[in-house]
Amino acid sequence: MTVSIIVGTQWGDEGKGKITDLLARDMDMVVRYQGGNNAGHTVVIGNETFKLHLIPSGIFFANVLCVIGNGVVIDPAVLLQEIETLRSKGHPVNNLRISSQAHVILPYHKDLDKAQEKKKEAGRIGTTCRGIGPCYVDKYNRRGIRIADLMDPDALKSKLEWNLEEKGFLLDKYYGMKVSYNVDSIFNEYLGYAHAIKKYVVDESSSLVRDAIKKNKKLLLEGAQGTMLDVDHGTYPYVTSSNPVSSGACVGAGFPPNVVNEIIGVVKAYVTRVGGGPFPTEIEGGIGDKLREWGGEYGATTGRPRRCGWFDGVVMKHAAKVNGLTQLAITKLDVLDNLDKIEICTAYEYEGKQITDFPTDIRRLAKCKPVYEEMPGWKEDTTKVKDYQHLPEKAKKYLDKLAELAEARISLISVGAERGQIIRV
Ligand code: IMP
Repeated sequence: MTVSIIVGTQWGDEGKGKITDLLARDMDMVVRYQGGNNAGHTVVIGNETFKLHLIPSGIFFANVLCVIGNGVVIDPAVLLQEIETLRSKGHPVNNLRISSQAHVILPYHKDLDKAQEKKKEAGRIGTTCRGIGPCYVDKYNRRGIRIADLMDPDALKSKLEWNLEEKGFLLDKYYGMKVSYNVDSIFNEYLGYAHAIKKYVVDESSSLVRDAIKKNKKLLLEGAQGTMLDVDHGTYPYVTSSNPVSSGACVGAGFPPNVVNEIIGVVKAYVTRVGGGPFPTEIEGGIGDKLREWGGEYGATTGRPRRCGWFDGVVMKHAAKVNGLTQLAITKLDVLDNLDKIEICTAYEYEGKQITDFPTDIRRLAKCKPVYEEMPGWKEDTTKVKDYQHLPEKAKKYLDKLAELAEARISLISVGAERGQIIRV
């Protein structure tokens, strides 16, 4: 039995798609456990670049069952578009399964997301405006529409009726957004989606997952976003509305924690963040702009430029502890190839003292200043390196420092977007 969880250790965009794709070939099942189409997992195969928003990154292997778990929120139009794109490029998607318990994103969720962001004078979260937060609010408020409801026209109609009444009132009277929802047209549109996705839908996807575990199959749980965007353990309120951390996998896929063997933290060799909120090691201008250019740091979902910064060891420690990391997959090491000097944040200075525990209260975090340790750059091209021994010595020292801060071993190092640009340690 091997149950492995892949988690982002920073603010998302660590390169989880590539790592999932790499590990998926040896798996029997890959399960997405939270988030929605706010995620963008990039997989490069030859000349083709795929940006997966909802479908697990194992989909390219026909013998790997790919499950969209109960913890995911699904915009069916986006899902169908993604299926269509994959099919048009020769990937039949017959290995996809969708949980009937997953929640559905409706037009009013997207409108609420935009209206809430617009209404905020200051402190905008900078959401992807895909309706993720409002959809999770409905889930926890027990007003949500699940995939199972899409398959039941009567339930869909009545749930749509009261939701449209409530959301229409809120948008119009509180947010001042003029909307004219028509129950019948939304009902018909979503019935159409139901028809199109029906063949992928499974009741009790969590039984499918647990049965696979019982039969000693190999499972990979694919997280979206990252630890610092976790609604409980991240930089609240500048977070997403789900639990990307490893324990979120148990809830979002439906299996107990005692079956997990490996927890793989995906760690970008520097850090990025998209959207608002605290980012202690941010580099504004200069090298920050260069990292953005060299690393192609633009959102896979929204195209927004990502904020870039030096590696943050305090964030790393936090992620290692919250997730229980057993391995690290370092990505984008090659992006640092041209730097003369590289800074690593090893602690924060807070009220005159050095701290290494991440303050999740953003008022305390705002008073923290990063403490840096300078390391020499290696100034060599690493993009063609296939073995760890052939990495420049200074790059190895840098990697050692990252592993030391995480107190976990490095098992993979990615040195480019292509499938083959990977070093197994
Ligand atoms: P939401 O998930 O659209 O509600 O956005 C909340 C915050 O999470 C915003 O700062 C987004 O930019 C950020 N976010 C959501 N999904 C991702 C992702 O996949 N990568 C990076 N940031 C994300």
